[in-house]
Amino acid sequence: MKTTIYWGRANSFLGGRLCEALDVSPGRFTLESFPDDEIRVEIKEEIQENDVYLLQPTHPPVAGHLLELLLLADAARRAGAARITGVIPYFGYARQDRRDRGGEPVGARLMADLLSTRLDRLITVDLHNPAIEGFFGLPVVRLSAVPLLAEALKPVEPEKMVLVAPDLGAVKLAQGYADILDLPVAYLHKVRESGRKVTVRRIIGSVEGKTPIIVDDMISTGGTIVKAAEALIREGAREEITVAATHGLLVGDCLERFSDLPIRRVLVTDSINQEGRGYDPLSVVGLARILAEAIRGLRG
Ligand code: R5P
Repeated sequence: MKTTIYWGRANSFLGGRLCEALDVSPGRFTLESFPDDEIRVEIKEEIQENDVYLLQPTHPPVAGHLLELLLLADAARRAGAARITGVIPYFGYARQDRRDRGGEPVGARLMADLLSTRLDRLITVDLHNPAIEGFFGLPVVRLSAVPLLAEALKPVEPEKMVLVAPDLGAVKLAQGYADILDLPVAYLHKVRESGRKVTVRRIIGSVEGKTPIIVDDMISTGGTIVKAAEALIREGAREEITVAATHGLLVGDCLERFSDLPIRRVLVTDSINQEGRGYDPLSVVGLARILAEAIRGLRG
């Protein structure tokens, strides 16, 4: 079965890298917006019985990126593709995986339902909550960037370093890094008061005199990292902070807020395109290789 790869406008950089890693030419298609903001997609080649992969992380603008992916999938289905796999390295709305209050939706479930109407399979990376896999009525390949990020962290003085989970949700993730890097872990008790406001109640574990590596699945506004960094410094950690996260949304004034703190390195993947950020401490680890390996595994 011939492999064909298309991508939406969320991350054409990673789309190109993925084609290189798989040694396939990019699929021929058009994707544009009309003046009234409607999106137009056209697949410009014969894909009858092809194995089609659609790459699109659903980061902001989430609704537009999601719709582009659904339109691409619909076009591929109508053009006779044999199988359509969504490659969604960052899955938006994943944090809405449950209802905290009676009047709320379960946004992650709704996203999964919408995608399940057009996709046959899904490949994703470090889902915010692994249980979201169960929201999909189709096979999901869950990849993790933790081994790649841990390899890139390579601590030079491990005896002086500590991994930090900035909230209780990141404890398992931090343990994953600790297993690879053989470092101790400290945990922060974070309370989120609003989308932008978080506070740290206490730190569990020893950070005094240590160089912290804060690990999380995603950095959005940066509020979690800022509060964690401030709490660590108050507790006597060394003012040389590293941050590692799979998904660097880095929205709003996130990087300006980081610049006011002794954050020396921010390591993320290219699940979200990081070209043109202009922020020196930022390093990017590429996902194309592990995505290509997953696709090869699915092709058999
Ligand atoms: C929360 O559960 C997530 O793992 C991240 O800690 C959080 O979403 C990051 O968001 P922000 O950067 O806006 O604090």
